[in-house]
Amino acid sequence: GPALAHTREELADLLARARGAGEQVGFVPTMGALHEGHASLMRTARERVGTGPVVASVFVNPLQFAAGEDLDRYPRTLEADLDVCAREGVDIVFAPSAEEVYPGWPQQREPQVTVEPGPLATLLEGRVRPGHFKGVLVVVAKLFGLVRPDVAVFGQKDYQQLVLVRQMVADLCMGVDVVGAETVREPDGLALSSRNRYLDADQRAEAVHLNRALREAQDNARYGVAVALDAARAELRLGKGVDLDYLVVTTPALAELPPVVPPGTEARILVAARLGATRLIDNLPLVLG
Ligand code: PAJ
Repeated sequence: GPALAHTREELADLLARARGAGEQVGFVPTMGALHEGHASLMRTARERVGTGPVVASVFVNPLQFAAGEDLDRYPRTLEADLDVCAREGVDIVFAPSAEEVYPGWPQQREPQVTVEPGPLATLLEGRVRPGHFKGVLVVVAKLFGLVRPDVAVFGQKDYQQLVLVRQMVADLCMGVDVVGAETVREPDGLALSSRNRYLDADQRAEAVHLNRALREAQDNARYGVAVALDAARAELRLGKGVDLDYLVVTTPALAELPPVVPPGTEARILVAARLGATRLIDNLPLVLG
């Protein structure tokens, strides 16, 4: 199985021993409660670095949770997580405490120097979760500093997070190759998420409408954005308990689409909805006609 590091020092020691000459280091940051989606990121990291070390982190980052969000009830399953990492050939698992990542915790919550995520963090997920992406980028920047990966793999499932991490790496010249891995889904299309376990049986059945709506949009994208959105909305209305937060079509970089686009333009459709107290998100690429 993988070597386990709880402290920065342990991680540094393990990395120093694992990093062979000319080898690349791959990195998969997670909050644990690992499922097949996370496992696929680990496989992508392995493909990218070959025999180089693959590092995974398991850290429920308190900075990215707002008061009233699910920080306290977020699942913590380190033993099972280590099994997943072992199966996927991860070499090092970094599972630090909050104090290890944020010296002075909990009196001093965030570091004095932080990452300002810019305007993209105020849209979509950022609108509903103020401060969320700042917390994400602060911890990703710190983890990059501790692991110093050549390649880091993130899921397209959290598309806005992926775009923001790419933006941070580009704007702050972090020199990490950020790979966006495809979303892994249940057979009915529901994107795997650690939060799916909060759904009761009825909500789980209704949740299928999120991905179905996005696929309706994909199937109708050749007729333009308006038709695609109408098709998606019609599908979402079939989900009785589905409380829609947003359904939008943007550029792949999450910018506003111009009103008229040439045929073949690539776009992204993103959805967020609540089923009871559980918020689900999903997204897919579109090719507009
Ligand atoms: P977490 O929600 O644990 O997700 C870790 C990584 O797994 C993210 O890159 C996420 O996009 C990816 N992922 C989750 N579900 C997936 C699925 N069904 N298919 C493919 N990839 C999936 O995202 C975070 O943690 C945190 O914000 C983190 C980046 C670790 C910073 O704290």
